[in-house]
Amino acid sequence: MDSRFIWVVLFILCAAAGLSSAAPATIDSPDGSVRVAFDLEEGRPKYRIERFGRELIQRSAMGFVLKGGRPLQGPFEIGSVHTRTFDETWVQPWGEKREIRNRYNELAVSLVEKGKNGRRMDVVFRVYEDGVGFRYEIPAQNGLERFEITDETTEFALAGDPAAWWIPAYNRDQVEYEQLYRRTPVSAMDTAHTPLTLETANGLYLSIHEAALTDYAAMQLAPAGRNTLKADLTPWSDGIRVKARTPMKTPWRTIQIADDPGGLITSYLILNLNEPNALGDVSWIKPGKYAGIWWAMHLDLATWSTGPRHGATTENAKKYIDFASRNGLAGVLVEGWNRGWDGDWTVHGDRFDFTRSARDYDIREVAAYASEKGVGLIGHNETGGAVPNYERQLKEAFALYEKLGIHTVKTGYVANGPRLQRIDGKGEKAGEWHHGQYMVRHHQKVVEEAARRRIMIDVHEPVKDTGLRRTWPNLMTREGARGQEYEAWSPDGGNPPEHATILPFTRLLAGPMDYTPGIVGLRFGPERPRNRVNTTTAKQLALYVVLYSPLHMAADLPENYEKYPDALRFIRDVPVDWEDTKVLHARIGDYVTIARKDRNSGDWYLGSVTDEEGRILEAPLAFLEPGVKYTAQIYRDGKDAHWEKNPYPLTVTEEPADASGVIKMRLAPGGGQAIRFVRTRP
Ligand code: NOJ
Ligand code: CA
Repeated sequence: MDSRFIWVVLFILCAAAGLSSAAPATIDSPDGSVRVAFDLEEGRPKYRIERFGRELIQRSAMGFVLKGGRPLQGPFEIGSVHTRTFDETWVQPWGEKREIRNRYNELAVSLVEKGKNGRRMDVVFRVYEDGVGFRYEIPAQNGLERFEITDETTEFALAGDPAAWWIPAYNRDQVEYEQLYRRTPVSAMDTAHTPLTLETANGLYLSIHEAALTDYAAMQLAPAGRNTLKADLTPWSDGIRVKARTPMKTPWRTIQIADDPGGLITSYLILNLNEPNALGDVSWIKPGKYAGIWWAMHLDLATWSTGPRHGATTENAKKYIDFASRNGLAGVLVEGWNRGWDGDWTVHGDRFDFTRSARDYDIREVAAYASEKGVGLIGHNETGGAVPNYERQLKEAFALYEKLGIHTVKTGYVANGPRLQRIDGKGEKAGEWHHGQYMVRHHQKVVEEAARRRIMIDVHEPVKDTGLRRTWPNLMTREGARGQEYEAWSPDGGNPPEHATILPFTRLLAGPMDYTPGIVGLRFGPERPRNRVNTTTAKQLALYVVLYSPLHMAADLPENYEKYPDALRFIRDVPVDWEDTKVLHARIGDYVTIARKDRNSGDWYLGSVTDEEGRILEAPLAFLEPGVKYTAQIYRDGKDAHWEKNPYPLTVTEEPADASGVIKMRLAPGGGQAIRFVRTRP
């Protein structure tokens, strides 16, 4: 063959892989704005990320440390390099947007350790317009069947010292993730949970997180000197981070990139990196709003335990079912319905019985009453962290719920970390973190067993979301942050007004959150002298749109809603399943405005919230369908409203609206605004 021809072919092949002999293998996003470069530095794998030619992540380490073996960090040789392009649009069965485009270029590099019996490891990068995902794949091979990971050495060497919004990891006196966000330069961070949100000196916004976390430990980010963050995998109680066997794939390590903080909210990279729906027919999965025997306990007006103030009685449950049915709410949560709540359940979680009800609660009667009224009963499975006790009962419990027509279960794992019970190989009790591999496996068991029984899951005290709802669409929502419950009893006075202006750019980037909005009785009785809700009424309404969740609670007491019918009307109207989502204003920690289109009616809804500052924001209505007339039903902060001094005033007005209009919104300090745009039908 003509040698010139061979050179041309080689050149084309290398160019396709972005590879020239000594140069790194590079791969660009389909639009060319993001580039990943991979190379071996003295045999050690390194990656780098650029956007428009400017470095975002400098050359960063990759690899693993294994127990009882050599680290899996090189020296390696490159075995092969493959690239591929991918472009599809898929449909979310429910979600914040119906159609999602998944378009990336992929670079897969197979590495072989130098020397005799070299081990094999692959690294795969997917490069999108809105960021990068990469993961390790360790193929099946002799001598590496079962192994234990004691460290993952992945680094994120940030260019510069961005501002970071973060919550510390490994807080032993609290439930994991339930903390207020801090803002510091990266150089002043401690080990933090992800998603970690960053603002660079040149005005870019990044979120470092992970996608598709299954059978692995959650990744935190630990400072590793000079603005470098290093993967920190949650350890088991025995110190091992991940118990693995080949073939294995790690979760995707993700870096989302946007020019505006709102761009992080409308990036679907985490979902795109998850596997498609594994359940087949999901027509039984239905987003919805729910009321619950819940807030009364948080306000100490009722108890979870039995006794004169027991909340979950047959009679009370019927009252809530009537309320839900009157107001078109899909479900009613009943907490404290089962045996095991008497005494300190946070210590004696293994006394919980998930099939037997408390003496004054007849689950059959309540379930029958609920279905008669067209309301779904939501089962509650608080474990108090006693995981083995729950796993033992899981099958039987879910079988019973299915039989009774209970299609949603809220789980709970109240235990300060690391106190989740595990029985180890020797039959001894061990204490685990909420976000270690043990709990990742546990939640997977629960969601799969639930799917078998056509049950939707809402997890409190969860492991963070990494987009698994794409694969298991019955994994609806979770808590995993400081929710509204803190307003009821937190010794620090609850969530400050800025909290809701940070959550959409941090916690919610992981996935939906069961924040439990909709408190209209903003001040409490003598049982809770030091607490109150730190928002105005309009802000409570706006939260339904701003904080996405397919299951949203109408969290307040029915008697409070009866006092405030205007607010209740918006809560009744607002949907929880969206065709599309647009972010109109986005300043992390200051304010955020989001508009979403209802999947079913085509009406649009808007929510805007501010921190403790009052604001005037203009919302251009260009998201509305051109040529269509709408009526805007506006729920705004009333005269002199103020989260602290005067939280209640709410003014409701109506005006015509169309895509050419602009609505000027006046948000009170700690306030908000909620708008429904009703299509006027001919
Ligand atoms: C904490 C959960 O976040 C809350 O919603 C629930 O009521 C209690 N645990 C009791 O399970
Ligand atoms: Ca909680």
